[in-house]
Amino acid sequence: MIAVDGKVAFLTGAAEGLGREIARELVTAGMRVALMDVQGGKLAALTEELRAAGADVLPLVVDLADPAATRDATETALAHYGPPRALIHNAAVLKEVSMLDVTFEDWRREVDIILGAAYVLTKTVWPHLVAARDGSIVFLSSGSALSGFVKETAYTPGKHAQEGLMKVLALEGREHNVAVNTMSTGRPIDTPMSDSHYTDEMRIGIVPPARLAPAFAFLAGIDADFATGQRFNAFQVSSAILAARR
Ligand SMILES: NC(=O)c1ccc[n+]([C@@H]2O[C@H](COP(=O)([O-])OP(=O)(O)OC[C@H]3O[C@@H](n4cnc5c(N)ncnc54)[C@H](O)[C@@H]3O)[C@@H](O)[C@H]2O)c1
Repeated sequence: MIAVDGKVAFLTGAAEGLGREIARELVTAGMRVALMDVQGGKLAALTEELRAAGADVLPLVVDLADPAATRDATETALAHYGPPRALIHNAAVLKEVSMLDVTFEDWRREVDIILGAAYVLTKTVWPHLVAARDGSIVFLSSGSALSGFVKETAYTPGKHAQEGLMKVLALEGREHNVAVNTMSTGRPIDTPMSDSHYTDEMRIGIVPPARLAPAFAFLAGIDADFATGQRFNAFQVSSAILAARR
């Protein structure tokens, strides 16, 4: 475990939902954060809020379905801050479309945001983390990484594949002290993604996204000796952190 105060994090999907709460938690922990999202207006509003509170953040408007743009944004963050202590790939989209109706282009875009961006982001920072022998990478997981769900033609395979990428990178990263893990939410979260997809039954046990944020600041500070190749549960980790704070 290292103290993350003053350290750097790169975070995707920061403009709203869970990502916005992770951003708030990381800056509260004293981290300097590169905030990536495709929604420029919401990213600008968050940047203004965080900077007004004294945080050092760098907003980067980027479409993570575009590998060249994703690499450019990551290199901009590297040039600005240097190598990150933590990379958190939180962005995703969920579209429910049957195999009869899905187009390859739409399928590919969703997989590119979930899996392709996980690859490009990691590939761009990896040599720096290996050289520093320091870093923690976290991909956002889901129940869809373990089970299939109706009409999740792209989201479910994307989340399954992200788990696979994590396992391979964890093996390679261990000797370089680079931790690579996934984090499931552990609970449904009240965000724009769930607003548009969840039935009443799926909303049972739903929590505000801020409830899960402490787990991400915690994982930002771990190294491979503590945990790598694991699938964490943000609700459980955050519950333990909040209980310890009381
Ligand atoms: N909502 C849930 O209950 C739930 C459950 C399990 C897992 N998750 C996972 O948690 C993470 C966050 O989910 P959420 O509910 O906050 O989602 P959300 O849709 O509310 O927010 C996603 C964020 O990602 C950004 N984003 C989407 N496409 C992008 C692109 N092409 N380029 C850059 N940014 C892009 C959006 O602009 C948004 O800010 C996701 O990985 C999701 O799969 C969510």
